[in-house]
Amino acid sequence: MLLNRNKEELYFEIALGEKGEKIKRYSLKVGEGIAGKVAETGIPIIENDVENNPFFTSKFDSLTSFKTKSLLCVPLVYQDEIIGVIEVINKKGKSKFSKNDLKLLQAIANQASIAIKNALLYQDLKNLFFDTIESLVSAIDAKDPYTHGHSKRVSEVAVMIAKEINNSESFLEKVKLAGLLHDIGKIGIDERILTKKDKLTQEEREIIKKHPTIGRRILEPIELLKDIIPGVEEHHERYDGSGYPKGLRGDRISLLGRIISVADVLDALTSDRPYRKGLEVELAVLEISKLSGIEFDPFIVSILNDLYKRGKLNCFGS
Ligand SMILES: [Fe+2]
Repeated sequence: MLLNRNKEELYFEIALGEKGEKIKRYSLKVGEGIAGKVAETGIPIIENDVENNPFFTSKFDSLTSFKTKSLLCVPLVYQDEIIGVIEVINKKGKSKFSKNDLKLLQAIANQASIAIKNALLYQDLKNLFFDTIESLVSAIDAKDPYTHGHSKRVSEVAVMIAKEINNSESFLEKVKLAGLLHDIGKIGIDERILTKKDKLTQEEREIIKKHPTIGRRILEPIELLKDIIPGVEEHHERYDGSGYPKGLRGDRISLLGRIISVADVLDALTSDRPYRKGLEVELAVLEISKLSGIEFDPFIVSILNDLYKRGKLNCFGS
């Protein structure tokens, strides 16, 4: 069991045994029950007769119709900070939990504390990283009222598509980041061109077309973002090879690029623009389907249609 952030409650991170899944849904106040006492004081408890222990709570036994007879509970400590407890219940056979059992469990707890603390720190760092990128991106989007929230929505629908292909956490993270950052290169484009209400000149269009390449250059120095560069650089490539900047064709365009391209256009079509109202999501999906195999990868378009039929895209469109 781990202590929550404000150190008031223990929650089950891992609960093994036949009642494990059931018990994982519950938590315990610090100071409550034997585990709560250990979390409060940092002192291990061996109890071979729980019924006579004043701290024992039968809360979990009554929830799971399990019968606790004996238990051994040690704190998880990392650099003098209590981060949780490990508890083992009902020693097998006739023998009781002994000092040796305690020593063994403490040795396991020492190893576990380091691993758990590392994982928690890593998670914190990752959250900070995502939060920072999200606020950076929304600051950029906010400059143009017509693209407000665009990158976040692209990222969300791209992740929906990606989940249908490969549910691995690392892949989904890449897709999420590529969606958020796909237009980051627009930082380097003159704002007067980006927000121009009249028709763009040929020259202005060529300038805007540089944003995927500028995006790549912005991200290149960031080690953690290297893998998502293809998604940023190739989100305006077209399946038939008529896109930019490189004119890549078919599967030569990265999977990230093919996903972001569909997600990007879906949001663009369903969003209002100064000169037109956004399309209904049904019509937007239809428009994209017409360009399947031309502008978009047919496989990604089929996933989009499937998501639409399952009602997953209802958040889009007016
Ligand atoms: Fe773009």
